[in-house]
Amino acid sequence: MFKRSDFPILKQKIKGRTLVYFDNSATAQKPSVVIKMVEEYYRQYNSNVHRSLNPLAEVVTKRYEEARDEVAEFINSQREEIIFTRGATEGINLVARTWGENNLKSGDIVVLSILEHHANIVPWLQLKEKLGIKISYIPLQEDGSLNMTAAKKLLSKKRVKLLAISQASNVLGILNPLKKLISWARQKNIVTLVDAAQSIAHVPVDVRDLNCDFLVFSGHKIWGPTGVGVLYGRRNILENMPPFLGGGDMIGAVYQDSFTINELPYKFEAGTPNIAGVIGLASAIRYIKKAGWKNIVVQEKKLSDYFMKKVGGLKFVKILGTAPAKFPVFAMVIDNIHPHDAADILGTEGIIMRAGNHCTQPLHDYLKVSATLRASLSFYNTTAEIDFFVKKLQELKKAFK
Ligand code: ALA
Repeated sequence: MFKRSDFPILKQKIKGRTLVYFDNSATAQKPSVVIKMVEEYYRQYNSNVHRSLNPLAEVVTKRYEEARDEVAEFINSQREEIIFTRGATEGINLVARTWGENNLKSGDIVVLSILEHHANIVPWLQLKEKLGIKISYIPLQEDGSLNMTAAKKLLSKKRVKLLAISQASNVLGILNPLKKLISWARQKNIVTLVDAAQSIAHVPVDVRDLNCDFLVFSGHKIWGPTGVGVLYGRRNILENMPPFLGGGDMIGAVYQDSFTINELPYKFEAGTPNIAGVIGLASAIRYIKKAGWKNIVVQEKKLSDYFMKKVGGLKFVKILGTAPAKFPVFAMVIDNIHPHDAADILGTEGIIMRAGNHCTQPLHDYLKVSATLRASLSFYNTTAEIDFFVKKLQELKKAFK
């Protein structure tokens, strides 16, 4: 089980106010065990991985590779299929630059959904400019869920080569029915990439069960350090991809005129990696295991239902995306109050939220809103915090009359 007190930052006061942290989709807070693990690395065995045979290097290489095993088990893959990256964004860019540039041609179609954050749009737009590929977006239904009829139609088009899609929206908080979409894609030999940057913090993610070819996520959204992430790739696809960055660790041998490439997964890990980040991420995964997915899911459902009832019940607030498969992530429009003003003022009360387009400008354009105020909760949030937020929203509304 978990305790709120596992997260030291939550005890803090912000300008004399108790911290109410409602910005977990931007980055989640870290439990003491993760902070300790990172500190221990720098204090006790800081050295480089895979390079030397001294006692420090042996410890650190062992910890680093054990972390790979933990991640592989966490998402049910083989260890060679786990590439450590800087985050979900780098993972998607790696796939676009290596698999994409080698497998896509002018006129080929990449299918995304209109829910994607910029990290899963821009790398494909860059390939559009470079190769002349086309991009199609799966639209939404009124409740914010994907329009599956339109999705099926899009995936049946002849030149579709890739489906790259988020498992959950960072704005609407709705879980997408990916197993169905991926099974449709596989029937047409369409390669699939899952952006699990959001979903990974709310549900167990299993790459074998999803049957996807690629999956990416960031460590900092699952209570781990920033600057570390994971790219999962199906082994036979990774084996046929060229390396991404060139440098140490990704090579077998280097000569004046040529080089050979290392085996998986090192082929995609050039240069000194974020060792502290990787070890910290493994610690976060052990924390999740101890906390128990079942407990996390139950608590988040309680928070979602409570938020929907309390905030959704306010006449002056509109929550976007109301489909049932909802995590405690809520984008809101408040009558006559700009989201940036609301976030600023609530911030002075200790309530930390994000306002703007949340790196999803196409989604905001599609929904015809320029900006929203987002509350993104995690299992350590409480119904009392939601009550406090409601009270402050009501005061704000009065002040803006
Ligand atoms: N994609 C992150 C968010 O939703 C940064 O805030």
